[in-house]
Amino acid sequence: MNIRLARAEDLAGMQAGNLVNLPENYLLKFWMYHIVSWPQLSFVAENDKGLIVGYVLAKVEQEPEEKGGVIHGHVNSISVLRSYRRLGLAKRLMILSQDAMYSVYKAEYCSLHVRKSNIAAIALYRDTLGFEIAEVEKKYYADGEDGFVMRLSFKT
Ligand code: ACO
Repeated sequence: MNIRLARAEDLAGMQAGNLVNLPENYLLKFWMYHIVSWPQLSFVAENDKGLIVGYVLAKVEQEPEEKGGVIHGHVNSISVLRSYRRLGLAKRLMILSQDAMYSVYKAEYCSLHVRKSNIAAIALYRDTLGFEIAEVEKKYYADGEDGFVMRLSFKT
């Protein structure tokens, strides 16, 4: 298994993984925008045949000035193909992206949204990576499910 920075030629594989793993899907230009704008933050896991089996897609944002203007990373999407799960791939993808948020952009924290019912992802974020639930956004998802806003501070 090879884990490396995502490149433009990986986008179709990342999008294909997203389509089978998650109901939140995006146009190709959305994926491209992230890779071009924050080329250090998105990573892929590829198997021995070069198939993309996992990805993390991330960006950097700045809070509004009136809220302090804090720079922070945000994970838009992460997924791993079913037959490659519980091998530690998502953990490795997240840590690589978090490290780059901090070292390249001086981000103060990493944020993400996750469905309230997504037990596997919440366990990954909270128990393995140390994220905390910062907020509950009622009916955040298109089907009406609540979303947790989770955050990992880089200060500690
Ligand atoms: N049940 C409970 N805990 C889990 C599970 C699970 N099914 N999967 C992972 N974890 C937790 C465990 O603590 C695990 O450590 P352990 O294996 O030592 O017990 C830890 O997370 C690390 O697991 P990884 O092997 O790194 O995770 P994996 O590569 O399997 O990927 C992921 C986890 C991304 C959530 C995967 O299940 C997946 O692709 N799910 C569908 C897509 C999805 O839900 N993505 C997240 C949406 S939110 C967002 O994108 C911001």
